[in-house]
Amino acid sequence: MKKREHFTSRAGFIISCIGAAVGLGNIWMFPYRLGQNGGAVFLIPYFIFVLLLGSTGLITEFTFGRSAQGGSLTGIKEAFKKKGKKGGVLIGSIPAVGLAGVFMFYNVVVGWIIKYFTLSTTGEINKIQIDNFFNNFSGSKETILWNAIAIIIALIIVVIGITKGIEKANKIIMPLLFIIFILLAFRSLTLPGAIEGVRYLLTPKWEYLFKINTWVMALGQAFFTVSLNGCGMVVYGSYIEKDMDIPRSAVSTAILDTISALLASFVIMPAVFAFGLDPMSGPPLLFITLPTIFKSMPAGQILSMLFFLSVIFAAVSSSINMLEGPVEALMSQTRLSRKKATILISIILFILSIPLNLNMDLFNNFADFITIVISPLGALIVLIVFYFMRDKEDILEEINMGASKKVGEKFLLFSKYGFTTITVLVIVLGIIYGGI
Ligand code: ALA
Repeated sequence: MKKREHFTSRAGFIISCIGAAVGLGNIWMFPYRLGQNGGAVFLIPYFIFVLLLGSTGLITEFTFGRSAQGGSLTGIKEAFKKKGKKGGVLIGSIPAVGLAGVFMFYNVVVGWIIKYFTLSTTGEINKIQIDNFFNNFSGSKETILWNAIAIIIALIIVVIGITKGIEKANKIIMPLLFIIFILLAFRSLTLPGAIEGVRYLLTPKWEYLFKINTWVMALGQAFFTVSLNGCGMVVYGSYIEKDMDIPRSAVSTAILDTISALLASFVIMPAVFAFGLDPMSGPPLLFITLPTIFKSMPAGQILSMLFFLSVIFAAVSSSINMLEGPVEALMSQTRLSRKKATILISIILFILSIPLNLNMDLFNNFADFITIVISPLGALIVLIVFYFMRDKEDILEEINMGASKKVGEKFLLFSKYGFTTITVLVIVLGIIYGGI
């Protein structure tokens, strides 16, 4: 059997996990949620959730992957086999299928972003009527081509492999992403009137601390942003050695993900307010509000290019993780090479994505179903298999292997009962709220 690839260093592993975590959630969701849910006050539940729950989830998923030296399908299958239970492959496929679903809708958007980057590069962005353009473009046949380009980029990186492909790409992309964010934040904060945006983000509106909605939104954000879905972080964990400090890596990932979300907020909101526009989230923010701003700004074209380039970096570093999950799952069950498995999965997911490109209602419903139900369900399955189907000594030993600060029984109790219950709650609240 071929030896399993491993990340070459702790930095390489962490930077890849940050790459997986930092994505559209940080850019088009977090700044809006921060402003809409009490400004600085939102940071209280958010920090609690992302540091406590995000880190706990990451510790679990990394350890699950490392101890199985395989993705969640391998880990779940083995655990079922050990207990003499049937259905391991079926249940074990859910996280990988869920992540493949995320890859599908996510790359429709990555396609749009690449198109906007191209429009900025050629200067065409200055000629188009922004809102008309986006309304005509999204859902049109033209998006299929851009979707294909997005998928091909992820495919190339994943085919190359873990160290030379994924790790290397993240080592290049992520520092550049942070540099561009810092430059753009500086530009945005120095615009006349930017202070209004800072106020929107940071003025604490204490009454929001007592609204359930604030806590629910912080909870949903924390889960999505560090990519807890029972597959992506498990598969990265499966490529680390026994001496990797998992708890520290998990906390570092959560902290840097948060820093990037805060930076994105200071890129976006001061500019939005400086131009007297309404704060938005999701596609309208990226594809209507921000291009409108760039259009009327000095050196707007270059800023627009830089901005969409940084969004491409953030999205591609997440998208390669979303592809690696299902690819590894397929490789683990067949004799297919990495190259064949990646090409096969990419083609299947591309074909399945075509209807999502063409029908925006379908796109929205599909994205909701995957993010509300399937992704947290994947995370839940891994939690149950890891904490309820193994001895506690064994679990602690696996987590603490290589750790400078070891976790103890309290962590175990919290993860097993508290965190698992909260994950169930994420699914239930997601269904009630129609997405959190
Ligand atoms: N965690 C990734 C994001 O926030 C998926 O976009």
